Amino acid sequence: MANYDVIIIGAGPGGYVSAIRCAQLGLKTAIVEGRETLGGTCLNVGCIPSKAMLHATHMLHEAEHNFADMGLKGKSPSVDWKQMLAYKDDVVGQNTGGIEFLMKKNKIDWIKGWASIPEAGKVKVGDDTYEAKNIVIATGSEAATIPGVEIDEDRIVSSTGALELGKVPKKMVVIGAGVIGLELGSVYQRLGTEVTVVEYMDAVCPGMDADVQRTLQRILEKQGLNIVTGAAVKSAEALKSKAKVTYAPKKGGDDVTLEADIVLVATGRKPFADGLGLDALGVKMTERGQIATDKTWATNVKGLYAIGDVIEGPMLAHKAEDEGMAVAEVLAGKHGHVNYGVIPGVVYTTPEVATVGQTEAALKEQGIKPNVGKFMFMGNARAKAVHQGEGFVKIIADAETDRILGAAIIGPAAGDLIHELCVAMEFGASAQDVALTCHAHPTYSEAVREAALACGDGAIHS
Ligand code: NAI
Repeated sequence: MANYDVIIIGAGPGGYVSAIRCAQLGLKTAIVEGRETLGGTCLNVGCIPSKAMLHATHMLHEAEHNFADMGLKGKSPSVDWKQMLAYKDDVVGQNTGGIEFLMKKNKIDWIKGWASIPEAGKVKVGDDTYEAKNIVIATGSEAATIPGVEIDEDRIVSSTGALELGKVPKKMVVIGAGVIGLELGSVYQRLGTEVTVVEYMDAVCPGMDADVQRTLQRILEKQGLNIVTGAAVKSAEALKSKAKVTYAPKKGGDDVTLEADIVLVATGRKPFADGLGLDALGVKMTERGQIATDKTWATNVKGLYAIGDVIEGPMLAHKAEDEGMAVAEVLAGKHGHVNYGVIPGVVYTTPEVATVGQTEAALKEQGIKPNVGKFMFMGNARAKAVHQGEGFVKIIADAETDRILGAAIIGPAAGDLIHELCVAMEFGASAQDVALTCHAHPTYSEAVREAALACGDGAIHS
């Protein structure tokens, strides 16, 4: 029986990052993964392939809508769907192959197969049992559906099926205007599909800054996405060559039925821990079906830890990665820490959306007076030069102390720009600190500085 200091179950961003950090800290480490390739949902069927598709279709959009204006004349490219999928698969292959290289480089054993935990300190894969001082569960999540809707990955698909469609559908209904719904809805809308997104809440991306929600919805609708809010989907039915979705408008009135070639179910994800044997082990779960952990990511079973989507918190790859590194530090006898107050969230539509920390609404509820500095990308020369003058940067500071408590950006490269504010928040910076920092011209990041200036005596270009 092979012995390890740590066995990590699941090789997504939480698991593989944790394995690398464990190895770097001198622990004898193995990782168990049943998929053919490493990288989990994120690399194989999630973040990475969807970004490839978003990039390809954004290029198409640029060619169709903005090239002529820049003096680039000629026929717009046509879509070779098979080749686009091959490009996406190639991107995935490069990334999953990269993780395999990193495992070898760090002398981490990849145990291939699906794991179970027959007893504390033991991991079983196939007929083999391995011993470990500590076990980290990083088994992630799977698509969650709603009552009346069954995913068949044929006509009624999850994000996984949506990245593998046989052809570009003529009509698509997307259930849920969250991150997946808007990202993949955008992909197909740009490919010429008539996309209708049906959302239960009264706004897209529930929980996000209200200003961003309104702006994002307006811009996506202008791009051609149909968005119906305040609509509770009751059922989806796969017919022979079509599918039907029925929703009830929340304000009342008759049910509405929509027809489509493909229905994408994007109503959230749920923790995945099937087959591990957690029940028999007596692992404590939360009411929402997540593995319950303490501040060191320990479960109630000695030597058993859990990180990522399978525990509480936002289901984000980077949150899982942070927990993966932190739990490794704990297992190596050091101090592991994750600042849950500074975890950015990004939606990779065009324009991108990025948020971090508190919203104005949440602060008001806590009795904290926000001071909001907002700057429109219309006043940013670089953004205007590349047809991306829509959107804004909003910095939310404490009105009394000027400390930055949150930020919301909608605009070009928002997903990258947000990190300046994440670092500022980690350092407990004030809006004035950012405002006094020289920002190169002409960059999108000047808009961040301008928003910080707007928290004080005023932005320059507005
Ligand atoms: P989500 O939680 O972001 O959105 C689900 C949406 O479905 C919500 O807006 C909800 O109100 C709506 N909904 C639920 N029931 C409904 C019904 N009966 N009728 C109509 N609408 C209904 O979940 P999503 O988009 O499926 O993403 C799953 C997870 O994956 C999320 O935790 C997300 O953060 C993560 N993810 C993150 C990405 C990123 O960081 N860019 C990209 C893709 C996914």
